[in-house]
Amino acid sequence: MTVTLAGTGAALPERVLRNSDFDHLGSSDEWIVKRTGIRERRWLRDDERLADLATQACERALTDAGIDAKDVQRVIVATSTADRISPGIAVETADRIGADRPAAHDVSAGCSGFLYALDQAVAAIETGRAEHVLVCGAEALSRITDKTDRSTAVLLGDGAGAVVVSAHPGAMRPSFALASDGTQIDLLYVGKEDQLLRMRGRDIYEAAVDAMAGHTAMVLANRALTTDDLDLFVAHQANARIVQAVARRLDMPAQKVFVNIEKVANTSAASIPIALTAAQDSRALHPGALVGLAAFGAGLTWAAGVIGWKTPRSTD
Ligand code: ACO
Repeated sequence: MTVTLAGTGAALPERVLRNSDFDHLGSSDEWIVKRTGIRERRWLRDDERLADLATQACERALTDAGIDAKDVQRVIVATSTADRISPGIAVETADRIGADRPAAHDVSAGCSGFLYALDQAVAAIETGRAEHVLVCGAEALSRITDKTDRSTAVLLGDGAGAVVVSAHPGAMRPSFALASDGTQIDLLYVGKEDQLLRMRGRDIYEAAVDAMAGHTAMVLANRALTTDDLDLFVAHQANARIVQAVARRLDMPAQKVFVNIEKVANTSAASIPIALTAAQDSRALHPGALVGLAAFGAGLTWAAGVIGWKTPRSTD
């Protein structure tokens, strides 16, 4: 069975923090925009829950896909910042959207988590074990942000995004490739002691460009495709300069590269589905499109994929 992305949706907290809200750390709007492309980010308030955002994003994705929650056999949420240590938020989300006791579990693979989860969803459908799978990325990074450290505090945002992954006879067979390198664990981590995110930004930057460009080239080659065949490239929104450097390395024209980090900052595992939703809303993504995806994050982990977007029925 072949597979398509059938719908998407996103949800962001109401509270907006602008770059000027970090001036007291010795930061500036000019520095943040020039080095990252970020202008604002959303942070949950202390009494708000990530599961609420995940639920809204999943409901919106189902509506967009025209799929009933009862027809979803599996719900996977990629997150490193669930409301509780255990259980994660997939089970609660599945219940709240009205799914009928589906398989439900979280995936933890840093900023690559959404693509790791999407790969599992595609595999479940290709092997006939599911027809519709909801894949959500949801993060409350403000809860693991050192708010006194200008080098990380300005980069991170909260939010959730989701896609419905559906069986679709006649769609192109998706191509995914995942990887990890545990020798680089200290580049980016959240420790047990202070439970705050620490990273070596410059080292991550260089590794991210190599890994995302290399794996995107690999998933294209696996299906005998080139960047000319892609309609849109949506990479993890860690830094606009990283995404642009990956695109340059792949010889991808700027108009095929989607960037929405300006409004949401780095939302880790939530960034790709939030970007897909923004791309559809802005008409950068149209039914029948072939989408390239790439992500990179803590672990280190990285991943890339190529998959059809709302593949029309006429290709059945
Ligand atoms: N405002 C002003 N100055 C700052 C700020 C700030 N907010 N933050 C850092 N600086 C300073 C640094 O202290 C440094 O000063 P120094 O030269 O006096 O030491 C200077 O700016 C340059 O710092 P660099 O780290 O060299 O700047 P760079 O161009 O590499 O940009 C950045 C930093 C934005 C972090 C970049 O390296 C990056 O995006 N890296 C990847 C980050 C990433 O993707 N992390 C993973 C995401 S987190 C997650 O996964 C949840």
